[in-house]
Amino acid sequence: MIQFFDVSKSYDNGRVEAVKNLSMEIESGELFGFLGPNGAGKTTTIKMMTGLLKPDSGRITINGIDIREKPLEAKRIIGYVPDEPVFYEKMRGIQFLSFIADVFEIPPEKRSVIYELAEYFELKEALNDIVSSYSHGMRQKLAIIASLIHEPEVLILDEPIVGLDPKASFRLKEKLRSYCNEGRTVFFSTHVMEVAEKLCDRVGIIGKGSLIAAAPLSELRRDSGERSASLERIFLELTDSLKDEGHDYEL
Ligand SMILES: Nc1ncnc2c1ncn2[C@@H]1O[C@H](COP(=O)(O)OP(=O)(O)OP(=O)(O)O)[C@@H](O)[C@H]1O
Ligand SMILES: [Mg+2]
Repeated sequence: MIQFFDVSKSYDNGRVEAVKNLSMEIESGELFGFLGPNGAGKTTTIKMMTGLLKPDSGRITINGIDIREKPLEAKRIIGYVPDEPVFYEKMRGIQFLSFIADVFEIPPEKRSVIYELAEYFELKEALNDIVSSYSHGMRQKLAIIASLIHEPEVLILDEPIVGLDPKASFRLKEKLRSYCNEGRTVFFSTHVMEVAEKLCDRVGIIGKGSLIAAAPLSELRRDSGERSASLERIFLELTDSLKDEGHDYEL
């Protein structure tokens, strides 16, 4: 459902190699967790998948559609929750969600989904409030609801759990699981190891722009030689091996 073919991206005229020769595939119906230390390249990867950033080389397809060649066709089947959602601040929550429904050409008889999702994520009472008055968690919920309105085949979320209260976080995890059980595909980045451990069919670990591993947790455990190792421990072992040799300055 999602394919990366030797994708690379650098910033600052090649001085920062954010993503290096990334190749991987995510099957349809899969719940895929993307992990990596700060600055590893997760957001850069996600922005390339959603067509916001152009890879320097390589290509990405969503259900066989090249995101650069046919962006509109690909975006029709993608839902996206960015790491820092941006809204029209002066709109009310309901106006923003109706606008998103307009963009995706959702017919009036199917718009009750907005209220169902708002109820599910406990944002219904705030829908008539202006977005600039929303708390961090409320904004996050708004972004999540907006991404789900058109029932996308592929849901891509960049650290969606940050800022959510325990109930909303539980509801989101429940939603992601049921989404995949219906045959849809979820790709999300997270720093919360417990979430990835409990929820994901497969995890990918990226470090310094390179994919270090992409496998089910059971396989990562087998490779690490410890059948009961936590994902946290495996993550630290795999990413620690990439650490800088040392610094030429004193702190
Ligand atoms: N707009 C930019 N200009 C220059 N360098 C950038 C830019 N965006 C990201 N980078 C660099 O690219 C690398 C990867 O950043 P990216 O945001 O993809 O990491 P990340 O894995 O999402 O990190 P985090 O866990 O902190 O969100 C980092 O070295 C970062 O400093
Ligand atoms: Mg990021």
